[in-house]
Amino acid sequence: MASEAPVLEMRGVVAGYGRLTILRGIDFVAQRGRLTTFIGANGAGKSTVFKTVFGLVRPTGGEILFEGERIDGLSPRARMERGIVFVPQGRNLFPRMTVRQNLELGGVVLRDAALRARRMEATLERFPRLRERIEAQASTLSGGEQKQLEVGRALLLEPRLLLIDEPSIGLAPRIVADVFALLRDLTDHGVTVLMVEQNVRSALRASHLAVALEQGRVALEGPSDSVIEDPRVRAMFLGGHVAA
Ligand SMILES: Nc1ncnc2c1ncn2[C@@H]1O[C@H](COP(=O)(O)OP(=O)(O)O)[C@@H](O)[C@H]1O
Ligand SMILES: [Mg+2]
Repeated sequence: MASEAPVLEMRGVVAGYGRLTILRGIDFVAQRGRLTTFIGANGAGKSTVFKTVFGLVRPTGGEILFEGERIDGLSPRARMERGIVFVPQGRNLFPRMTVRQNLELGGVVLRDAALRARRMEATLERFPRLRERIEAQASTLSGGEQKQLEVGRALLLEPRLLLIDEPSIGLAPRIVADVFALLRDLTDHGVTVLMVEQNVRSALRASHLAVALEQGRVALEGPSDSVIEDPRVRAMFLGGHVAA
C-alpha cells in the first residue's frame, strides 16, 4: 500500500559522475513528517544523494522508491509532479526579477491557474515579508528574505518531500535559526524534509534525525540528539566536545 510505504527509500544506490563512483551503496529510509539532516565531510556525497533523489544524477545501481513506487527512471520534472522538490545549494533566484515573478516561476508546472493563485496566496500568508516586498527585485532582498523566497517558491508545489542543500550558507546566525525553524515547522504540517548542513551543531538541534555520510556510504544515523553525542561526530564536526 502506497500510503503505508515510506516516503522515500534508497536501496543500495550507487551513483556518480561518468566513471567516477561517488555513492557506494546508499541505504536510507526517510521518516515521514520528520526533518532529517545529512552531515559529512566535504566530498562525502551529500549533495550527490539529493541530486540522485531528484533525478539530476542517474544511479548505476540500486533502487529509489517514493511512496512505494520506483522513481529512479523518472525525469526531475516527473518527480516534481509527484511531490519531490529540490532546493540546491547557493543562490537559486533570478536576481533581476521581482519577488512575484520568482514565485510565479515556482508554479509554472501547475497547469491550473486557479490552483496557482491559491498557492501563491497561501505562500504570501506564510511569508508576510515576501508580500511586503512583492514588487521588489529579488537582488534587493536580505539574505534571509532570499532564502524565504526560495523556500516559498518550493512550497508552491506543496511538496511531500523537500530536499534542501545547505540553506544556512551566507546567512547570519540568527537568520539561520529562523530558516531551520521554518523547515521544522513544515514537518509539523506533514512535509518530509531532508537537509544537508555544514552548520552541524545548530542543524542537529533543529532536526529530528541525522545521517552521517562517509565516502558515499551511510556511516551513522539516528535521532539527532544521539548522533550529536556520537564520539565520531564530535571529533569530526564539533571540535571534540558538545556544549550543554
Ligand atoms: N558534476 C560533477 N562532476 C564530477 N564530479 C563531481 C560533480 N559534482 C560533485 N562531484 C564530486 O563528487 C564528490 C562528492 O560531491 P558532493 O556530493 O557534492 O559532496 P558533498 O555535498 O558531500 O560535499 C566530490 O568528490 C566532488 O568533487
Ligand atoms: Mg554539497
